[in-house]
Amino acid sequence: MNENIEKFFLERGCLIEEKAIVEIEKRGGLEYVLRNEKKMDFSSPIFAVSNLPRVNEFSLVKEFHLDGYPGISQSFVDLFKSRYSFLHAKLNQRSKTRVFSPVSKLRRDGGTVFVSGMVADFSESKKGYGIVEIEDDSSSIKVILPRTYKDIIIKDEVIGVSGQFSKDGTAIFAESVYRPEVSKEPRIGGSDVKVMVVSDIHVGSKNFLEDSFVGMMDYVNTQGISFVVINGDLVDGIGVYPDQEKDLAINDINLQYKKLAELISKFNSNVRVIIIPGNHDIVYPMEPQNPLPKEINALFPSNVTSLSNPVWVEIGGRIFLLYHGTSIFDFLEAIPGTTMNDTDKIMIEMLRRGHLAPEYGKNLSFIPLKSDYYLIDPVPDVFITGHVHSHSITNYKGILAINASTFQEQTDYQKMMNFNPKPAIGTVVSTYDLSYEAVKF
Ligand SMILES: [Fe+2]
Repeated sequence: MNENIEKFFLERGCLIEEKAIVEIEKRGGLEYVLRNEKKMDFSSPIFAVSNLPRVNEFSLVKEFHLDGYPGISQSFVDLFKSRYSFLHAKLNQRSKTRVFSPVSKLRRDGGTVFVSGMVADFSESKKGYGIVEIEDDSSSIKVILPRTYKDIIIKDEVIGVSGQFSKDGTAIFAESVYRPEVSKEPRIGGSDVKVMVVSDIHVGSKNFLEDSFVGMMDYVNTQGISFVVINGDLVDGIGVYPDQEKDLAINDINLQYKKLAELISKFNSNVRVIIIPGNHDIVYPMEPQNPLPKEINALFPSNVTSLSNPVWVEIGGRIFLLYHGTSIFDFLEAIPGTTMNDTDKIMIEMLRRGHLAPEYGKNLSFIPLKSDYYLIDPVPDVFITGHVHSHSITNYKGILAINASTFQEQTDYQKMMNFNPKPAIGTVVSTYDLSYEAVKF
């Protein structure tokens, strides 16, 4: 018997039956109860297993809205402050013996120092040493990396450093560099809900693979799949890049969404479909992005739920983080030698940094928010991106990271860039043990 769960229900005036406790433990224990509290009815004296939320329902864990959470600020100061304080704490949680000090509280009293800071600048000396300037909100210090240090440093990421002060006290000679590293304790059990993960449908493009998309829908309807995640770029849009008209089969964005609605209305009505916008959709291009506008959502059947980009949802007791993935291009530029087929490596770099898009002011423009919505918090069980039209699946420290495939075949632009997409692959995930299957359509 889990006493914390029992206590939670007792405090709300009911006794919980043993079967319900067993089921709650399968779904993630007390954490699950706390996330789903609003969906539970505590009015009867005995809380039975049948009172738990149905497994083919999902819960919103964290959603962005321009007029709501987390609120807009006058400048980026709040966002960066919240990023630093969260990731500083995360670095300190990783070890009980290692305590990182903020830059402004550093003490120069000899011995090894541990400090954390946000990367303000990075350069390489003539002799091949990496020089990083790290800062907190009131102070900064130069860190000289060992010549053997090969990992990449990204501007505005938060790192921990251990090392020795230089004789004049103006720099630290680093011995090790630490990262926040999000991870999840592997867990098997809970409901076996099957989730189909796809992205970048691009309805309206001449290159939209309609037959494959219909094939994917038939598969969902006949193979016991309860959820579908469509991870942005639902339509091709208009005016997204110069001369896009010549690539369009439907050159009116409303008609593109009508066509999408017509298609996805063919999912069985008991299949729940979650959609988020991407950079081709009818939402402003800054991030985070609101859900699609009401007029567009009104076109879809009631089993379709339109959410923000990024968004955290819980399905079958597992947390799914859905992010379209625009920042992947910033990582591609920052990591020498990576290609658009290295999405697995790039998603790992995000997880290591505990952040979806650390670098400010590159390909992505951000909304100045009161707190940093792009921190990977809560830590997901399943992390999904799309955007680059590749496909990869990897497991990093208990987190299943999927770059979802597209339903658009190679475009002229991609041909020119010598990029071969990996289209028409559905990734089916089981929430029971995070096993997966890639199905080609
Ligand atoms: Fe796309």
